[in-house]
Amino acid sequence: MQQVNAGIIGLGTVGSGVFNALQLNGGLLSSRIGIRVAVKKIAVRSLAACASKISRTLLVEDWRSVVDDPDIHIVAELVGGATVARDIVLAALKRGKSVVTANKALISAHGEELFAAASRHGANFYYEASVCGGIPIIKSLREGFVGNRIVALYGIVNGTCNYILTRMKLERAAFADVLADAQRLGYAETPPDLDIDGHDAAHKIGILASLAHGFWVNPKSIYMEGIRDITALDIQFAEKLGYTIKLLAIVKKTAGPATKQSPRARGSDCPRGIQVSVYPTAIPSSHVLASVNDAFNAVFVRGDIVGDSLFYGRGAGKSPTASAVLSDLADAALDLKFGNKHRVPPFVPHECAGAVLPMEQIVSAYFVRLNVVDRPGTLAKIAAIFGGLNIGISSVIQPEGHEGRSVPLIFMLHYAANGAVMAALKKISRLPVVKGRPMMIRVENFE
Ligand code: HSE
Repeated sequence: MQQVNAGIIGLGTVGSGVFNALQLNGGLLSSRIGIRVAVKKIAVRSLAACASKISRTLLVEDWRSVVDDPDIHIVAELVGGATVARDIVLAALKRGKSVVTANKALISAHGEELFAAASRHGANFYYEASVCGGIPIIKSLREGFVGNRIVALYGIVNGTCNYILTRMKLERAAFADVLADAQRLGYAETPPDLDIDGHDAAHKIGILASLAHGFWVNPKSIYMEGIRDITALDIQFAEKLGYTIKLLAIVKKTAGPATKQSPRARGSDCPRGIQVSVYPTAIPSSHVLASVNDAFNAVFVRGDIVGDSLFYGRGAGKSPTASAVLSDLADAALDLKFGNKHRVPPFVPHECAGAVLPMEQIVSAYFVRLNVVDRPGTLAKIAAIFGGLNIGISSVIQPEGHEGRSVPLIFMLHYAANGAVMAALKKISRLPVVKGRPMMIRVENFE
């Protein structure tokens, strides 16, 4: 049987998971693809500090000895971060090696440069494990949906946030308490900012948006809000209205109003731009994504030919991530065997790639919670501001049992541009009858 040699760089959670998975299922993988994938070297940060039981003959300290080894055909970069990892990937691509990475932060920060380097050096670059761990969403977008325009993609792509929001809903618990517990149990990192402020989800949705629409999405253009400000009260009120709050990563084609800067393409149905964003979203509790609980991930894809598809699974962790890396190793081995270069282009090109629209132009419906003084005329003042900006109110609730000096007032707003709603809330927050900061959660009805 033909053999290809792989070098692993990094023996942390992902690296050791990949090694163990190959020990366990390497024979199965070989029999399926007809190629033996052998690990020839593993680079670790410090041999002295390495507690692994892996044979010392495989271990090296310098990653360059992996990249430079002419007998190593595939380099798996599993160190994480975006600095040394970038050096490793660029060096390996430059030598024409196939590169596998699980590193979303690296692709988000340097993807454009890395894909260009792969193309320049005729090298293949694989990154299935970078988004949603064990869910094969990259391969699905690149290959499975190659014949579709991706109309919309909605993802629950951060397990930590989903775990926290699930417990807040089921236990009516406060954000800070659940976060502290999640950190104690190892579900959330310390500090937790990358996850709970939306950065991790933004890295992932940027990669999926680039794949879906065929142009590189600059991470700076992705609108992002995390879950820090969500209260148990918001979750309960949303629930009463039939909604569940999830941190949703969204890629959506939007026709929007044409402007001078981005005119609608003439004679075609090309969208003027796409929405690429991450924010807490109220979704109908009857929607399938509302029942994605705990640390699970899910990606809901709407293609123009296929219709709606749902992917569900574990988005992080040693084994799910290893499963994705093994799939890339198998692809890399097959592409080497058959001499394939860029068998599928890094991005599935869309015939009318556009631009990412600024959030102010995105239209959605809204859930708004205000804390107001319980006094006649309060509602009229607020309604006048919404009305003045042409924002329609679809329902208003002042929940009973909250009597006191200030009371919650919940509005559901009709579809309106984010810019208008943000301007209205700014004005509303200045009213003396409004106490504290208004809470606004966008509503997604998947229409
Ligand atoms: N920290 C991520 C999550 C996993 O909570 O989903 C790695 O992307």
